[in-house]
Amino acid sequence: MEKNKGRRILITGAGGFIGSALLKELSDLSPVAVYHNTKPSMGYHSLKSVDLRDEQALRVLMMELKPEIVYHFAALASPKRNEEDPQLARETHLKVTENLVNNLPEGSHIVFTSTDKVFDGSDPNPDENSKPHPKWLYGRLKVECENLIRSRVPRHHIVRLPIVHALGEEWVFKTGSAGGSFIDKGMADLRLGKKVEAFNNVERGYVRISRLVDLFKVMLEDEHYGLYHVSSPMMSYYERMKQLCTHCGIAWQDLLVPSLGTAIPMTQNLNTVKLSSTFKIVFD
Ligand SMILES: NC(=O)c1ccc[n+]([C@@H]2O[C@H](COP(=O)([O-])OP(=O)(O)OC[C@H]3O[C@@H](n4cnc5c(N)ncnc54)[C@H](OP(=O)(O)O)[C@@H]3O)[C@@H](O)[C@H]2O)c1
Repeated sequence: MEKNKGRRILITGAGGFIGSALLKELSDLSPVAVYHNTKPSMGYHSLKSVDLRDEQALRVLMMELKPEIVYHFAALASPKRNEEDPQLARETHLKVTENLVNNLPEGSHIVFTSTDKVFDGSDPNPDENSKPHPKWLYGRLKVECENLIRSRVPRHHIVRLPIVHALGEEWVFKTGSAGGSFIDKGMADLRLGKKVEAFNNVERGYVRISRLVDLFKVMLEDEHYGLYHVSSPMMSYYERMKQLCTHCGIAWQDLLVPSLGTAIPMTQNLNTVKLSSTFKIVFD
């Protein structure tokens, strides 16, 4: 990290779940942290509140900072909220990303988080060359943002993520608007000895936030630009909770109850061969 001292780094969505976690790890490098309404929960000095839909405000920010690398996490991250408010969704994903791309200094590098929801579950093992088939607005807008970044910013890492989670620690619930994934809520409840139901018929991939932050730190100076799928092997929500509880020493045997879910798609896999062969990182 020492050699990255002095680099001009910008994190958008810094008060959100993923942004907060990265900010904590990169704070020695003094990134500028942009939030909207929700401040990062950690005390931090280099904070700016900017509504990134406002192109003029974003232009001023970019002219002041001239970032060499932008971790772009600002988004309307709840798929349900996207369906409920399509105009806000379009502005928050597309307008914000357009504003950013239009004002990015020449040669800047962008790291952007997309989603496995660019697929609809019909392809059993989609890789980065598979054609996206989003079923919902959130996935469609992410595809549009990906295409915009790919066509306009040569130095980009776009990572498609499934469910990102921590281990139910308290800090998670102080970040972002989503209020923690079901995994985090479930683990926090299990720690308190409460019963938790988890789908055993809906299968997805997962990413632990600490491992994702490690990958983002590698990307700070990596030049293998492009699109990457990042995910654990696919498993049910129930199996994932069991795995994590065992890892953390949380008693789950009498508390974790398998249940049947109706989430669509019922299975969503991501092929991660490109990621593991390029970065030698495997997500479990
Ligand atoms: N978490 C996951 O499981 C997951 C999975 C796949 C992809 N992703 C993607 O990863 C990124 C980060 O996700 P996250 O979980 O950290 O989401 P999050 O906790 O909801 O954080 C998103 C942040 O974006 C900010 N934001 C929204 N509109 C803005 C605007 N107009 N101007 C400036 N900031 C704005 C929000 O600020 P306010 O709350 O103050 O409005 C929020 O802090 C998103 O692109 C998301 O789609 C996340």
